[in-house]
Amino acid sequence: MGGALSLLAAGCAARTRYASATVVDGRLAVPLADLASGALLVEDPRTDLPIYLRRTATGTYTAVSTRCMHRGCQVEPVAAKLVCPCHGSEYTFDGALLQGPAQRPLTRYRVTSDERNVYIDHSATELR
Ligand code: FES
Repeated sequence: MGGALSLLAAGCAARTRYASATVVDGRLAVPLADLASGALLVEDPRTDLPIYLRRTATGTYTAVSTRCMHRGCQVEPVAAKLVCPCHGSEYTFDGALLQGPAQRPLTRYRVTSDERNVYIDHSATELR
Protein backbone atom coordinates (compact mmCIF):
# COMPACT_ATOMS: atom_id res chain seq x y z
CA MET A 1 0.00 0.00 0.00
CA GLY A 2 2.87 2.38 0.80
CA GLY A 3 4.16 1.86 -2.76
CA ALA A 4 0.81 2.82 -4.26
CA LEU A 5 0.65 5.94 -2.11
CA SER A 6 4.18 6.89 -3.09
CA LEU A 7 3.31 6.54 -6.77
CA LEU A 8 0.17 8.62 -6.27
CA ALA A 9 2.13 11.33 -4.46
CA ALA A 10 4.80 11.34 -7.17
CA GLY A 11 2.12 11.70 -9.84
CA CYS A 12 0.53 14.64 -8.07
CA ALA A 13 3.88 16.34 -7.49
CA ALA A 14 4.68 16.07 -11.18
CA ARG A 15 1.47 17.81 -12.31
CA THR A 16 1.97 21.12 -14.03
CA ARG A 17 0.83 24.05 -11.93
CA TYR A 18 -2.02 26.30 -13.06
CA ALA A 19 -1.60 30.07 -13.03
CA SER A 20 -3.84 32.97 -13.83
CA ALA A 21 -2.48 35.86 -15.84
CA THR A 22 -3.11 39.57 -15.97
CA VAL A 23 -4.15 41.10 -19.27
CA VAL A 24 -1.68 43.88 -20.21
CA ASP A 25 -2.08 45.67 -23.53
CA GLY A 26 -4.12 42.76 -24.84
CA ARG A 27 -1.50 40.17 -23.87
CA LEU A 28 -1.43 37.71 -20.99
CA ALA A 29 1.28 38.70 -18.51
CA VAL A 30 2.74 35.96 -16.32
CA PRO A 31 5.27 36.91 -13.61
CA LEU A 32 8.68 35.35 -14.23
CA ALA A 33 8.70 34.25 -10.58
CA ASP A 34 5.76 31.95 -11.34
CA LEU A 35 7.85 30.08 -13.91
CA ALA A 36 10.39 28.77 -11.42
CA SER A 37 9.34 25.21 -12.26
CA GLY A 38 9.89 25.85 -15.97
CA ALA A 39 6.31 25.31 -17.15
CA LEU A 40 2.80 26.44 -16.32
CA LEU A 41 -0.76 26.00 -17.52
CA VAL A 42 -1.96 29.58 -17.92
CA GLU A 43 -5.69 30.28 -17.78
CA ASP A 44 -6.86 31.84 -21.04
CA PRO A 45 -9.82 34.17 -20.43
CA ARG A 46 -11.00 33.63 -24.02
CA THR A 47 -11.48 29.87 -23.76
CA ASP A 48 -12.12 27.07 -21.33
CA LEU A 49 -8.70 25.51 -21.96
CA PRO A 50 -5.35 26.81 -20.68
CA ILE A 51 -2.19 27.69 -22.57
CA TYR A 52 0.93 25.61 -21.91
CA LEU A 53 3.81 28.04 -21.25
CA ARG A 54 7.31 26.67 -20.99
CA ARG A 55 10.85 27.99 -20.64
CA THR A 56 13.22 26.19 -23.01
CA ALA A 57 16.73 25.01 -22.24
CA THR A 58 18.06 28.07 -24.07
CA GLY A 59 16.03 30.47 -21.92
CA THR A 60 13.37 31.35 -24.49
CA TYR A 61 9.66 30.67 -24.04
CA THR A 62 7.02 28.76 -25.95
CA ALA A 63 3.25 28.99 -25.51
CA VAL A 64 0.75 26.64 -27.14
CA SER A 65 -2.95 26.05 -26.85
CA THR A 66 -3.80 22.85 -25.02
CA ARG A 67 -6.75 22.27 -27.36
CA CYS A 68 -6.03 19.08 -29.31
CA MET A 69 -6.39 19.59 -33.06
CA HIS A 70 -8.29 16.31 -33.44
CA ARG A 71 -11.52 16.89 -31.52
CA GLY A 72 -10.61 19.49 -28.94
CA CYS A 73 -9.76 17.60 -25.76
CA GLN A 74 -7.16 19.14 -23.45
CA VAL A 75 -3.64 17.81 -24.00
CA GLU A 76 -1.52 17.21 -20.92
CA PRO A 77 2.25 17.29 -20.37
CA VAL A 78 3.50 13.75 -19.95
CA ALA A 79 7.24 13.15 -19.70
CA ALA A 80 8.74 15.10 -22.63
CA LYS A 81 5.62 15.72 -24.73
CA LEU A 82 2.00 16.85 -24.72
CA VAL A 83 -0.41 13.92 -24.91
CA CYS A 84 -4.14 13.91 -25.62
CA PRO A 85 -5.99 11.59 -23.24
CA CYS A 86 -8.96 11.16 -25.61
CA HIS A 87 -7.50 9.39 -28.65
CA GLY A 88 -3.74 9.51 -28.15
CA SER A 89 -2.44 12.34 -30.32
CA GLU A 90 1.01 13.52 -29.25
CA TYR A 91 2.80 16.83 -29.70
CA THR A 92 6.15 18.34 -28.79
CA PHE A 93 6.18 21.02 -26.10
CA ASP A 94 6.21 23.67 -28.82
CA GLY A 95 3.16 22.14 -30.49
CA ALA A 96 4.60 20.14 -33.39
CA LEU A 97 2.57 17.02 -34.19
CA LEU A 98 4.33 13.75 -33.31
CA GLN A 99 1.45 11.30 -33.67
CA GLY A 100 -2.19 11.42 -34.79
CA PRO A 101 -5.06 10.98 -35.21
CA ALA A 102 -4.73 14.80 -35.16
CA GLN A 103 -3.55 16.14 -38.51
CA ARG A 104 -2.28 19.58 -37.51
CA PRO A 105 0.06 21.06 -34.88
CA LEU A 106 -1.22 22.85 -31.80
CA THR A 107 -1.87 26.58 -32.07
CA ARG A 108 1.27 28.41 -31.02
CA TYR A 109 1.35 31.95 -29.66
CA ARG A 110 3.99 34.66 -29.85
CA VAL A 111 5.84 35.12 -26.53
CA THR A 112 7.97 38.04 -25.37
CA SER A 113 9.44 38.87 -21.99
CA ASP A 114 11.01 41.63 -19.93
CA GLU A 115 12.69 41.64 -16.53
CA ARG A 116 9.38 41.03 -14.73
CA ASN A 117 6.96 39.12 -16.93
CA VAL A 118 6.48 36.75 -19.82
CA TYR A 119 3.82 38.01 -22.26
CA ILE A 120 1.66 35.70 -24.34
CA ASP A 121 0.07 37.33 -27.35
CA HIS A 122 -2.97 35.05 -27.25
CA SER A 123 -4.88 37.15 -29.75
CA ALA A 124 -2.27 36.63 -32.46
CA THR A 125 -2.89 34.21 -35.23
CA GLU A 126 -1.11 30.91 -35.32
CA LEU A 127 2.65 31.33 -35.78
CA ARG A 128 3.19 28.40 -38.15
FE1 FES B 1 -7.15 14.57 -29.08
FE2 FES B 1 -8.80 12.98 -30.37
S1 FES B 1 -9.29 14.79 -29.29
S2 FES B 1 -6.67 12.76 -30.15
